[in-house]
Amino acid sequence: MKKINIAIDGPSGVGKSTIAKIVADKLDLVFINTGLMYRAIGFYCLENNIDLNNESEIMNKISQIKIELLPNNIVKLNNLDVSSRLLVDNISIAASKVAKLKSVREFCVKKQQEIAKLKPGVIMEGRDIGSVVLKDAELKIFLTASNEVRVKRRVKQLLEKGEKIDEKEVLKNIVDRDRRDSERKNTPLIKVEDAIEIDTSNLTLEQVIDKIITLAKEKMN
Ligand code: C5P
Repeated sequence: MKKINIAIDGPSGVGKSTIAKIVADKLDLVFINTGLMYRAIGFYCLENNIDLNNESEIMNKISQIKIELLPNNIVKLNNLDVSSRLLVDNISIAASKVAKLKSVREFCVKKQQEIAKLKPGVIMEGRDIGSVVLKDAELKIFLTASNEVRVKRRVKQLLEKGEKIDEKEVLKNIVDRDRRDSERKNTPLIKVEDAIEIDTSNLTLEQVIDKIITLAKEKMN
């Protein structure tokens, strides 16, 4: 079977990384979570008191550190694996703020494209994969889900982690982040024409995975 590249885009909380990881394992593709790169930059800024809107200072600082985006949900800053520290709300917000900046995006996109060149047969997930990073991907998927379902899924995740829940706050975070991602000037989140939209609101994880695998196999033959 031919190796193909798959782009998975969509707003937060639609299950992109869970789905992409399982599809990658089933189809023997390399899974890359591009959001981790924006999260690592947001994390670095917060740790070092760098203003999240100060594009030139952020670029100056991140060009001096080593950022490695690796398969399977791993990102390293100066050889240190920081991945497990990035999946918290203040980092999600910081990531979506630095992701608005043109030069930060160019920096991330370049690295992500290099990874795809080195390892043909990737499944990348993010916001601009089908529109910018892997414009030539053989398969482009755009995942969506209603706000209600996304809030429910996020609340479940938080409960599993034993965290305190304020549903209104969860909804606000999701809506604010969507707005920043969809309304930003530089490569906003959009569904490109050649992407196939899958609304996951009423589907199980397995059903979404099966749909993507069926579509991928058509392209691989
Ligand atoms: O996907 P995840 O929620 O981890 O991404 C964190 C933030 O990084 C998103 O809200 C978005 O602002 C940004 N991002 C992006 N482009 C990508 C991946 C993520 O702008 N390809």
